[in-house]
Amino acid sequence: MIGEDTLDIGGQVALVTGAGKGVGRGIALELAKHNAGGIAVNDFDAGRANEVVEEVRAMGVKAVPAVFDVTDRGAVATVYEKVTAELGAPTILVNNAGNAGPDGTFDLGPPFWDEDPAVWNKYIATNFYGVLNCCHVALPYMVEAGRGRVVTIVSDSGRVGEPRLAVYAAAKAGAAGFMRSLAKDAGRHGITCNSIALGSIQTMQTPEQFEAYKQTDQYKKAIAQYTIRRYGQPEDVSGLAAFLCSDRASWITGQTYPVNGGYSMAQ
Ligand SMILES: NC(=O)c1ccc[n+]([C@@H]2O[C@H](COP(=O)([O-])OP(=O)(O)OC[C@H]3O[C@@H](n4cnc5c(N)ncnc54)[C@H](O)[C@@H]3O)[C@@H](O)[C@H]2O)c1
Repeated sequence: MIGEDTLDIGGQVALVTGAGKGVGRGIALELAKHNAGGIAVNDFDAGRANEVVEEVRAMGVKAVPAVFDVTDRGAVATVYEKVTAELGAPTILVNNAGNAGPDGTFDLGPPFWDEDPAVWNKYIATNFYGVLNCCHVALPYMVEAGRGRVVTIVSDSGRVGEPRLAVYAAAKAGAAGFMRSLAKDAGRHGITCNSIALGSIQTMQTPEQFEAYKQTDQYKKAIAQYTIRRYGQPEDVSGLAAFLCSDRASWITGQTYPVNGGYSMAQ
């Protein structure tokens, strides 16, 4: 049909985790642009969540802040109920919160065998348990609605491995594996579950910091691995995320889609 919006979200309500900045913010705005019925903007940082709520409302779409840490299942459940009362139950869940979680320090470590076990939890808690918590709370609402979309943002490191990031990569691989089983459990209820595996996205530094980083040998070595010679931007991700949340994607489930500038390629 001429003029049809392929990414039409059809008035469904979405909850996007870690949407106060970066990729999650980009996905929240994209869903709003394509006819979402409302957006619950999650972040553990209330200030960031509120800023994105205002941006979504300025687009003429309903939005509420959903302030919780995804690692706290009790808080997820309490706020989810509140969101449901305000917007209706979300039938779209985008598990985007990740990296090092509230700790924030996302560093290349030593080889795994020299790593302090105390650092493992910051990666596993948000990138793996956070996904379990949000799905555990959200799925009963979707089952009742007979419809749902779950999209989890993982990392190419979880597909192809990444030295000095083994535990983060393992948490992301675990989340993608979990999505495949959840897809099999939930498919009969009209719920699809997919993952998007990202290469490096330019979100973790200010533009000034990134300009300085571009002069370093570390950046030159990193960028040489990208067929498309740049880091990604949130807009490189948000279109695919919206498509997987749309009605057009109702027969796509249990998959992991790389969005990575050609960092890895596989059959
Ligand atoms: N940036 C990259 O290069 C890259 C690469 C591969 C995968 N990813 C993944 O993409 C997703 C988005 O990354 P980004 O770079 O946009 O992140 P970001 O660090 O720029 O923003 C993440 C947002 O999530 C929030 N958040 C973090 N932990 C949370 C928690 N436990 N509960 C609630 N909110 C939380 C933060 O406050 C922040 O606002 C993450 O899952 C990340 O692991 C990013």
